[in-house]
Amino acid sequence: MKIDEILEAATVIPVLEIGALERAAPLARALAAGGLRVIEATLRTAVAVDAVKAMKDAEPNLIIGMGTILSEGDIEKSLPCQPDFLVTPGTTRSLFQSLKKCGIPSLPGVANASEAMTAAEEGFTAQKFFPAEPAGGTAYLKALNGPLPKITFCPTGGISAEKASEYLALPNVACVGGSWIATKDKIALGDWDTIQMQARKVVESLR
Ligand code: 3PG
Repeated sequence: MKIDEILEAATVIPVLEIGALERAAPLARALAAGGLRVIEATLRTAVAVDAVKAMKDAEPNLIIGMGTILSEGDIEKSLPCQPDFLVTPGTTRSLFQSLKKCGIPSLPGVANASEAMTAAEEGFTAQKFFPAEPAGGTAYLKALNGPLPKITFCPTGGISAEKASEYLALPNVACVGGSWIATKDKIALGDWDTIQMQARKVVESLR
């Protein structure tokens, strides 16, 4: 799948920080039962790679990305779990090269017009707009659409259920990401009912 197809299938991507491996499979089941198709696990915990493997085993139809990729070393670290896509919070020249070399569909992070243009020049026209709310929110993305209509964004960072639909109404927003659907605390508590309900709510409200 190309990155554009993944974003289109997603509409909303829950960004997950999984601290304990045994939480991974039930979390994947709750999100899939809630109707979500695309999820992102962040490479911020020691179990992240094994957690993606466990989620893929539990829900083979989920499209699972690895986020918080900062370097070529992070890409290499994530390879054993065969992520369906990679997400970065920002980019560097060497990270662009590493993303292109690995061949995995990627969503590089940008926070302004210059970074968006640089990423597009490197061949990435689907980008994560991060951190979306502090970086200017819907007003900023709306303004970018005039000069940069070929770039599509997945805004992430500070987005709530209420704000998600405002972002999705913009022509240059393919999907939104955020941790509100399955927060770190809810995952740690194993509160699968709430997580499934939040996923269902978001899927239904955006339908
Ligand atoms: C990310 O890693 O993309 C963000 O931390 C998610 O942002 P949020 O927690 O503000 O939703």
